[in-house]
Amino acid sequence: MELERDGDVPLYEQLERTLRDAIRHGRLHASTRLPSSRGLAAELGISRGVVTSAYDQLAAEGYLETRQGAHVRVARGVRAQPPRPPTPSLLGKFAYDFTPGLPDLAGFPRDRWLRSIRSAWRETALDAVGYGDPRGVPELREALADYLARARGAAADPEHLLVCTGFRQGLSLTCRWLRANGIEQVALEDPGWHAQRLIVEEAGLIVAPIAVDEDGINVDALKSSGAEAVVVTPAHQFPTGVVLSARRRAALIEWAERGDRLIIEDDYDAELSRERVGALQGLAPDRVLYIGSASKRLTPGMRLGWMLPPSWLSWALISAKAIEDAGSEIAGQLALADFIARGELERHLRRMRLRYAQRREVLLAALARELPDWQPSADRGGLHLTVVLPDHTDEAALLTAAARRGVGVEGLSLHSYTGDCPPGLVLGHACLAEPAIERGVQLLASAVSAMPASRALAVDRRSRGGCGES
Ligand SMILES: Cc1ncc(COP(=O)(O)O)c(C=O)c1O
Repeated sequence: MELERDGDVPLYEQLERTLRDAIRHGRLHASTRLPSSRGLAAELGISRGVVTSAYDQLAAEGYLETRQGAHVRVARGVRAQPPRPPTPSLLGKFAYDFTPGLPDLAGFPRDRWLRSIRSAWRETALDAVGYGDPRGVPELREALADYLARARGAAADPEHLLVCTGFRQGLSLTCRWLRANGIEQVALEDPGWHAQRLIVEEAGLIVAPIAVDEDGINVDALKSSGAEAVVVTPAHQFPTGVVLSARRRAALIEWAERGDRLIIEDDYDAELSRERVGALQGLAPDRVLYIGSASKRLTPGMRLGWMLPPSWLSWALISAKAIEDAGSEIAGQLALADFIARGELERHLRRMRLRYAQRREVLLAALARELPDWQPSADRGGLHLTVVLPDHTDEAALLTAAARRGVGVEGLSLHSYTGDCPPGLVLGHACLAEPAIERGVQLLASAVSAMPASRALAVDRRSRGGCGES
């Protein structure tokens, strides 16, 4: 038994832990006799009081039996629990992971964030870190309102702004409110982010899938769907990348205004695109509920998002948030307020926009070289690229073949409600360095050539003088 005499952990606690672990892991069996407190103290060169206090604590927890005049023993009823292997992650691991959703995690400015965390804690009043305003800390609501007005053209009032745990919680609270208020159907873009569908259905609502074309969501189809609310990604449709055209924006707002309906705007990555269109919410703050998130702009593990609800809806959502979790975690909120006030958020976004654009160029060039039959989407930015595959491609088989080669990709069909979409892939390129993108695409090409139908296609291409065989 080794005790650290100059360490931070008191000796009685070290002794307690050592004995507890030995009993739990079966090194000390039930009924084993332990040395007397005097004997053990002498052996370890520590005071007897340290040993008795450790013995008393372990007896109180049920690990030891201590009776007046009797030897201290390991309790009869204790059963050893073999040490558990570390809990495996639920997420798959790929050497070349194109699964969309992640920003560049290595690009997250840890030092600057740490400075914001430190200064937030240093400068914050004591009572600010108790149960706070369920809307979020005032510093962050002010900073975000200012930022969203400036960067996204949103109509942002800090009084009505609500900080939430990412887009998911924002949509989930809203869907529960819709359901409680007699709404049965919510329209979603098809294809559209699959998690939106899960959240809407979890709230007991029916999904009305609405097709998306090169101008964004089809508003005529929306009109005839009977839905009373719709979720859209107008600045950069997920996954197709199209921007909602000016005409469709106007038609969408008219649809909402005519029937007192609700538009939920998922503004997940607008600042990271090179096509800058303002938030829809700025045009119709009374009909559009805006939801933004730190997930793509900074990092998803932060679990921070923000909502700008129409004023008539804000108190209902604030009270739902208060009931659900009494407000989001405070330290991150204070740090983000400081981060925005220092101009760090905008600096970071500028840096990342350039980096993602470069990675996108590398991905496009590698695809053109290795897989010239694939059709990448024409959008100009963001963290992912959608590619349409040749008609005959078996999307599921390609995902399996890619995974076997250590390449993680997501099928377009995952994001289609009706299944009415061509075979395709959604390739996230933000979190892969350029050489990994190139190697990953080579491996994808080799996965394609290993598939029977594609092999035929590759031969055909070669005979036409095409390229793309790896
Ligand atoms: C379309 C879309 N909206 C929103 C989000 C962010 O969700 P959250 O803020 O809950 O992390 C994502 C993340 O992948 C997304 O793809």
